[in-house]
Amino acid sequence: MLRNVVITQPLPADRLQALSKQCNVQVLDGSLPLSEALSRDELSACHGVICLLTDAIDSPLLEAMPNLQFVSSVSVGVDHIAVEALTRRSIPVGNTPGVLVDTTADAAFALLLAAARRVAEGDRYIRDGQWRPESRWSPDFFLGKDVSGGTLGIIGLGAIGQAVARRAAGFNMKVIGWTPSGREVPGVDSVSLEELLLRSDFVSVHLALAPQTHNLLDAEKIATMKPGAVLVNTARGGIVDESALAAALDSGHLYAAGLDVFEREPVATSSPLLRHPRVVVVPHIGSATTLTRAKMVDIAVQNAASALLGQPMPHCVNPEVYPAAAPH
Ligand code: GLV
Repeated sequence: MLRNVVITQPLPADRLQALSKQCNVQVLDGSLPLSEALSRDELSACHGVICLLTDAIDSPLLEAMPNLQFVSSVSVGVDHIAVEALTRRSIPVGNTPGVLVDTTADAAFALLLAAARRVAEGDRYIRDGQWRPESRWSPDFFLGKDVSGGTLGIIGLGAIGQAVARRAAGFNMKVIGWTPSGREVPGVDSVSLEELLLRSDFVSVHLALAPQTHNLLDAEKIATMKPGAVLVNTARGGIVDESALAAALDSGHLYAAGLDVFEREPVATSSPLLRHPRVVVVPHIGSATTLTRAKMVDIAVQNAASALLGQPMPHCVNPEVYPAAAPH
C-alpha cells in the first residue's frame, strides 16, 4: 500500500516527480496550519510531512499523527519542529544543511555593508525626492562607518559563520568568534562572548535557535557591545531581544543593524525596529536564490525518499533514531 506524504506548500512539480511514484503526495497551499488544513482522518493517515520553516510541527499536532514516519524540512533550521518529541517516537527529522552556506553568508555580508554604508537610507532619500540641489554632496554628506579594517565578531562558528569569516578576510577585517561548543576555526581568534561584544565593530549572529540561545543577546549583553557597533542577524529573530536592540539604537549606543530574521514573522510594521532609519531589513531571504532554493528542495525530497525506503536520511538532525550499525 502506498504511504501518504503531505507537502505543506507547493514546490516545483518537476522536483517531486520521483517522489510521486513512491507515495501518495498531497500538496497543500500553505494558507492554514497543518492542524487545520487536514481533517482528523487525514492527519491520522499521514506517514510523512515535507514542511517549510513557517510550519509549526509541534507536539499537539504530532499527537494527532499516530502513523507519522518522517518529517523533512526545506530549511537548515529546525526550531519550528518538536524534534525531541519526534526522537522519542524514533521518527527521523531531515534538514538541508550545506547548500545554503555561501548564499546566506553573502546575505549577511550584504546586510553588514548596507547597514554600515547606509544603503537603504540613501535609497529612500533619493526616492523620497530629498536629494535636491540644496542638499547636494558635501564632505559630511551621508557619512557611514568603515567596514575595511574593522573588527568582526562572529557568534556561531558553524559552516555559515565560517563562510562569513572568509568574506571578512577579503575586507581586511580582524575576525574574532565565539561559539557555544568552543570550536576553534582557522583565521578566527576564539574569544569569550563577553570579549567579542566588547571588541567588535560588527557582530554577526550565526547560531541555531534553541532554548539555550533564546534572547542570548538580551538588554544586558547588548549594553556591553562596543559603542557604535553594528549588529547583523541572519540566523533567527528569537536570539536577539528586539526591544533591547531598538532601545540601543534609539539611544545611539549602537550605530545600525541589518536584520533578515525576526522574533515573529512577518514582522509587524509597528515594530520599533522599523522606525529606526539605520535598521536595514529584509524578509527572511538569507538562502533565497533560485539555485540554492532548488538544491534545498532536492535535499528535502531525498530525505523523504530515503525515509520511505526505510533508509537513513542523508541529512538527519536526530540520527540517534537509527539503530547503531551492528558491531562486526
Ligand atoms: C533558513 O532560515 C533556514 O533555516 O533554512
